Amino acid sequence: MSFEGKVAVITGAASGIGRALSIALARRGADLAIADLDERGLEETRGAIENLGRRVLAQKLDVADRAGFEAFRDDTLERFGRADIVVNNAGVAVADTILESRYEDWEWIVGINFWGVVHGTKAFLPHFVERGSGSIVNVSSVFGLVAVPTQGLYNATKFAVRGMTEALRHELEGTGVHVACVHPGGIDTRIAANARFYQGPTGLRDQKESVANFKRIARTSPEKAAEIIIRGIERKEPRILIGADARLIDWVQRVLPRRYWELMGRGMRA
Ligand SMILES: NC(=O)c1ccc[n+]([C@@H]2O[C@H](COP(=O)([O-])OP(=O)(O)OC[C@H]3O[C@@H](n4cnc5c(N)ncnc54)[C@H](O)[C@@H]3O)[C@@H](O)[C@H]2O)c1
Repeated sequence: MSFEGKVAVITGAASGIGRALSIALARRGADLAIADLDERGLEETRGAIENLGRRVLAQKLDVADRAGFEAFRDDTLERFGRADIVVNNAGVAVADTILESRYEDWEWIVGINFWGVVHGTKAFLPHFVERGSGSIVNVSSVFGLVAVPTQGLYNATKFAVRGMTEALRHELEGTGVHVACVHPGGIDTRIAANARFYQGPTGLRDQKESVANFKRIARTSPEKAAEIIIRGIERKEPRILIGADARLIDWVQRVLPRRYWELMGRGMRA
């Protein structure tokens, strides 16, 4: 599959996986419609795309805002006349127990990680179905496969993304529209630093230490993650696992569906 002249829409493009994917697709000849809340980071991504000679629409957007997302869709279609790939990537994390969790954190994370993906999917879906082509790529997580203490809020959103995306995939079978759910393992991005952190699975309450721990286990670079997502789009894969850790977690969940946390928790504490 060639990306030359294709139009890719990517949310959360100011940082991490979204930025790396935007640049990698531009390098392959795609034009980009990128969005993020972080205007400064977004401008840097825009500059990198323009330096590669591709066209780019960069718009400040809160993906939790449905009307805002629909306006972004309208601007994208007006500017480029089409969209071929939508990657609903913007996401945030909260680390807290369900017991101590605050409703405002639930609303924040569900607004971005779940509603953001619904808004992006529904905004572009009619265009894709009408044309009988395109890729809708929704970013879940390995935490959409296994549940972890203090990740309950994040788990809830990422399992939801997976459920919605897999249902959509079944609905669109035979239409020519490709639907993929992405499950990254640890990717070395700003996700942990940007998190609302109260406590980790081992009882840790210091965010700095948690970010340092995350850096140690996040073995995959955003650039590598971007290459794996692109290969998944090329091959029209329905399920894109990123990293050896993601493949291991996927396997452990299937072999030990009731007891996977015993094993993972031991590993995490070690
Ligand atoms: N890094 C990992 O280990 C990992 C693992 C599994 C899944 N993921 C998922 O990958 C996706 C990308 O995250 P990342 O790791 O690149 O993190 P990141 O923090 O580097 O990038 C996330 C981007 O989303 C943007 N964003 C946050 N709230 C937004 C909003 N309301 N509207 C628009 N943009 C918003 C941020 O400004 C940021 O630029 C997320 O959905 C995340 O849950 C990451």
